[in-house]
Amino acid sequence: MTRPLPGAGLERLQEVAEVRVWPGPGPPDRATLVHELAEAEGLLCLLTEQIDAGILQEAPRLRAISSYSVGLDHVDVHCATALGIPVGHTPGVLTETTADLAFALLLAAARRIVEADSTVRSGEWDAQRSWAPDLMVGRDVHGATLGIVGLGAIGQAVARRAKGFGMRVLGWSRSGRAVPGVDSVELPTLLRESDFVTVHVARTPETEGLIGADAFERMKSSAMLVNTARGGIVDEAALAEALRSGAIAGAGLDVFDREPLPASSELLDAPNLVLAPHIGSASRATRERMADLAFANLPAGLSGEPMPSCANREALERRSARR
Ligand code: DGY
Repeated sequence: MTRPLPGAGLERLQEVAEVRVWPGPGPPDRATLVHELAEAEGLLCLLTEQIDAGILQEAPRLRAISSYSVGLDHVDVHCATALGIPVGHTPGVLTETTADLAFALLLAAARRIVEADSTVRSGEWDAQRSWAPDLMVGRDVHGATLGIVGLGAIGQAVARRAKGFGMRVLGWSRSGRAVPGVDSVELPTLLRESDFVTVHVARTPETEGLIGADAFERMKSSAMLVNTARGGIVDEAALAEALRSGAIAGAGLDVFDREPLPASSELLDAPNLVLAPHIGSASRATRERMADLAFANLPAGLSGEPMPSCANREALERRSARR
């Protein structure tokens, strides 16, 4: 285990396996991971560990991986499948919590909540501006048009919230999925017509840079972007430029190409941008549900049973074929 996790799952796991837990607070470095995996049969990891082909090749006894995340862009699932290693993850249990955060960022950007907070704290909110017609004016969320890029579980959960705000909801997914209450459109139409655009696709080679300079050119200059999916889907340099030039009006980001965000990132100087440190699933209850699922996936994979939530079910067949 590459970090202690919440809940009682560790005790259950210890009944069936000898468990070594990296104490944190940060991730183990690559050399430590390679060293530990030389012996390990199971791995319970976080999204901070890069489980690439190189690492997998150096883990000759590894029979199961369980990631404490729904996203698996940090694991070479293709390579794991070829090696007959099932990879567990945690979809479903974090859907609503992540959708809450997407909406929180949307509201914070639209209503300038972070700026408003620092205006009060810094004393800029003084007698001359105790209430002013132009003080901290933002944009209406209710009645606006929301464009959802990616209509999986989290995108659909955001759509439900948007309906509560009386929004018109547009959606795009590569598969052309139809979702009740969401008008399915092509991506350029979504970008052109939306007042808010929120990203909910997985990070894959196909979605890398999906929202880049071309997308910002298509968006309304009054529009705002939210990303709670993965960094790299939004081109950060293009976003910083779009915010500086006024090509779009604002953004809220929870995920970044490199995490933690480097101090040299141009996003830190970009205007009208709300930033969060990858906390989409960070409610106590959801983090416990994620841990329960991650802890349930691992022993199943170790014993060759189907994991409750497996990203590559075909790995088990591959494993039996290799025997
Ligand atoms: C995930 O699970 O992939 C999220 O990014 C963190 O909960």
